Amino acid sequence: MKKILPLTQSLRGTIEIPGDKSISHRSIILSSLGDSPVEVTNFLAGADCLSTVACMRALGAKIERADDKILITGNGLHGLHEPENILDAGNSGTTLRLLMGLLAPQKFLATFTGDDSLRRRPMARVIKPLTQMGASIVGRNVNRNLPITIMPVERLRGITYQMPVASAQVKSAILLAGLYAQDATTIIEPAPSRDHTEKMLAAFGARLERSDNAITIFPADKLTAPASISVPGDISSAAYWLVLATILDGSDVTIKNVGVNETRTGIIDVLKSMGATIELVNERTSGGERSADLKVMASRLRGVEFGGDMIPRLIDEIPALAVAAAFAEGTTIIHDVKELRVKETDRLAAIVEEFNKISPATFEATNDSLIIHGGHEKISADCKTRADHRMAMSLSIFGAAAQGVTIDDADCVRISYPNFFDSLNVA
Ligand code: S3P
Repeated sequence: MKKILPLTQSLRGTIEIPGDKSISHRSIILSSLGDSPVEVTNFLAGADCLSTVACMRALGAKIERADDKILITGNGLHGLHEPENILDAGNSGTTLRLLMGLLAPQKFLATFTGDDSLRRRPMARVIKPLTQMGASIVGRNVNRNLPITIMPVERLRGITYQMPVASAQVKSAILLAGLYAQDATTIIEPAPSRDHTEKMLAAFGARLERSDNAITIFPADKLTAPASISVPGDISSAAYWLVLATILDGSDVTIKNVGVNETRTGIIDVLKSMGATIELVNERTSGGERSADLKVMASRLRGVEFGGDMIPRLIDEIPALAVAAAFAEGTTIIHDVKELRVKETDRLAAIVEEFNKISPATFEATNDSLIIHGGHEKISADCKTRADHRMAMSLSIFGAAAQGVTIDDADCVRISYPNFFDSLNVA
């Protein structure tokens, strides 16, 4: 249990955020497939990425850790070995889905499990395309939930796959499997999802071609690892400060070193369309990934309406954005968000039930949309995080900007932002 008091001051100065979760996972996985050492800096040592580290170690990669630096020495594209035990992906959908794609083409057997949340999340969306490629995968019950076993196979075939939902995890699983297939694999997305896997695969020398929403990967003989990977800060973690600084009168902060890959910057675009003042300074590119410092000033917000292709560009930031919308003038309508129902918890239900405790009669959801009536009275409340890190952090900034909040489980922030509360206390 944790009590968050209302903030009495504005946010000022600079804020450092942890490394990007998506890029940290991918840096471990791809570096394990090279055959020369890679030093990863600003690695996110959150519980999800540590699940990936543990799984890759169990598959034979040599991974040494010192603070936020990681040294990985792979055994080549064909150097993974059968794990001695069940692989535990913990709470991490990215670990599980990407590694299912990596292990589907291998000549050994592997079984995955995960925590209570991950065991309930849909995996048929990954099993289906991998099975079309020739993989042999069994899951529990008709929904093919965890535990999941991947059987040894000889060689996968390339496919063309039209994805029914925009999902970077599913796309990445197919791309990783495609590295080992006998011919090219093409994935067509309904809308562009984050492209960190494509960018990093290209930096490792894999051959990919992109046109509109289609991406083709060609089979590889080897990957050539760069000597180092510098992970930018996570815009999904920056989102809490972008929102808090925008809604707290008198705030003026700079969030340092934030990844601003355009498949991830929907939160900036939407906040700006609501009236926020956010400026990108000191822009640079490393390993194909753009980053910048974000200068944010308090601003008056108005409600907006959006959906469609914007959604994959800010899917993890919707709880934080809902907090901003509660402080805006007018109504915000967010369409096409049913994917939120299959995240770490059903985030649409969680937002409606928990956020309304802080701002009554503000949040409503349909099956596929979220409606936020801004400007209602805010009160002090006791809320449940449902063991969801993004709910915990969004509730915390909501309470901090309103009349305070008590959350039942603060520990779950370790998934993506272990020192979140230290930064909130300093704020
Ligand atoms: C992620 C992709 C997204 C996102 C998740 C991380 C990734 O999930 O919500 O937090 O690293 O590829 P989906 O692929 O399910 O949309």
